[in-house]
Amino acid sequence: GNVDLKEIFDFAVQLSKKAGRAIVEGSTNRFKNMEGFDEKKNTADLVTETDQNTEKLVKEEISSKYPGHKFIGEESWAAGDEAQLTDDPTWIIDPIDGTTNFVHGFPFTCISIGFCYKKEPVIGVIWAPFLEHLYTGLKGHGSHVTTPQDPAPRKLPLSNPLPLPSLRQALVAFEWGSDRRKMIMDMKTRSFARLCGDSDAGVEGGQMVQGVRSMGSAALNFANVAAGNLDLYWEIGCWAWDVCAGIVIAKEAGCQVVGSKSSTLSLIDSSELGSVTPEVLTGRKYLVVRSIGDSPKQP
Ligand code: IPD
Repeated sequence: GNVDLKEIFDFAVQLSKKAGRAIVEGSTNRFKNMEGFDEKKNTADLVTETDQNTEKLVKEEISSKYPGHKFIGEESWAAGDEAQLTDDPTWIIDPIDGTTNFVHGFPFTCISIGFCYKKEPVIGVIWAPFLEHLYTGLKGHGSHVTTPQDPAPRKLPLSNPLPLPSLRQALVAFEWGSDRRKMIMDMKTRSFARLCGDSDAGVEGGQMVQGVRSMGSAALNFANVAAGNLDLYWEIGCWAWDVCAGIVIAKEAGCQVVGSKSSTLSLIDSSELGSVTPEVLTGRKYLVVRSIGDSPKQP
């Protein structure tokens, strides 16, 4: 049938707020939640009851409002559901992006609600309930942020979108992620050193960015690049639910988003990267860049 994207968008915003209340209630004291989590693949890959309960709530709300829509969620996938992207209207959701932050009481935690139609991400809603930051994007209608300081939606990017002359003026986000195997760590370490290092002082290929940040939430990294608060975010190891909402918000803010399907990597080879096609939406490696020089460069 027909999809009314504006109606779905409004529903997604309401849903994010509802889920946010569940997340805040699920955090015993808004700070440390060091009890009540489980490790998934290792001690750096966590799930809490709040992740599972929030996903259940969101999934139920969606299926009662839109019984024909498909659903891909981090915890449903972890529990064995298929995550096949089809042409059908499909919700791609991370109930808590930044679960480690949630467990530690570091407030950069959000619900990330993405919606795809004909395999294209067209709606993105990211709500960070502890910060009360709401980022939204609707294909063809731009992206916006509201905060307690600015409750009326402000169009993204907030700051001057002119290209930075080089990475030397950039504030850059990357994440170590939860895959801590030697091969992966070696590659990330080399890439991060190249991003940060001073080539004049002997670091080969060093870009000497102005600063690096790891917020612990892929979705909030995307949102902050879209806002112009960060200039670039790059990570190996993301999943569709980490990035779907962020892709819409960043693209609508004029950012370039590229993704790669492969999970094994040669970090300098940017030929592996395409734009975000349905195929790479299920990939693992993402680069989102505001505006630096002519084109994004793979770290
Ligand atoms: C993770 C966070 C983290 C990123 C990982 C994600 P989760 O999501 O976004 O910052 O490094 O790649 O999987 O597990 O907190 O939902």
